Amino acid sequence: MTSVIRTIADWRAESKRLLNATVGFVPTMGALHAGHQSLVERSLRENDVTVVSIFVNPTQFNDKSDFERYPRNDAQDIELLKKLGVHYVFMPGYQDLYPEGFTVRVVENEISRVMEGASRPGHFDGVLTVVMKLLSIVRPYRAYFGEKDYQQFLLIKKMADAFFLPVEIIPCTTIRDADGLALSSRNVLLSTEERAKAALFPQILKTSATVILAAQKLEQAGFSVDYVEEAWDRRFGAVRLGKVRLIDNFPLASIIKP
Ligand code: PAF
Repeated sequence: MTSVIRTIADWRAESKRLLNATVGFVPTMGALHAGHQSLVERSLRENDVTVVSIFVNPTQFNDKSDFERYPRNDAQDIELLKKLGVHYVFMPGYQDLYPEGFTVRVVENEISRVMEGASRPGHFDGVLTVVMKLLSIVRPYRAYFGEKDYQQFLLIKKMADAFFLPVEIIPCTTIRDADGLALSSRNVLLSTEERAKAALFPQILKTSATVILAAQKLEQAGFSVDYVEEAWDRRFGAVRLGKVRLIDNFPLASIIKP
């Protein structure tokens, strides 16, 4: 049985019944796809109870139109989560999560300043703040994050360690379409033509000898490149295709150099 919980007070009342259960948590912004599904299935395997949150967090969007365009699919998402056997879907409202506005926030001053953080100022303050709020409310034993957002995973892990949060932050392998494009809620915003071209992004990122060559080839292929960089034994890239921004990363050990 899946319960949909819409307020913090209702979750607190419900979670009193779960004192001896291990709770696995998958925070999402909805528009669920097979990538989310793999996180949920892992949580269901590894924990007694699985909670999935759906909250499109406005404070992590530095571009208002990106927030407005972000795909929303609540009814379909809830149906999928029921089918998967998730125990709780937590869907708080903005006022519930941000009663004080956005005056208290979690800020990291190093990792959050590069790549995604440099391209999207304030993005990681919003992510860390909302994840801190959600972890403090749900109080899971384990929380699951996709490696497509590897920088986000690193920052959340760092925050959990810095604040001694009693939760294991677990990275999960990126799930890809057959042509190699990493699954993302934003992919539905690509036109048919853009979707076909988008497969070149992971291909070029993974098979170029250097980051400079990768950026050049991506521009030649029609992408507008935000960055291609290497850090933490990985190669990262972010590009724009029309109005859609795509990010991806690969372990350096998996890069195929010609
Ligand atoms: O990765 C996401 O979907 C979001 O950044 C998260 C972790 C749910 C926070 O809003």
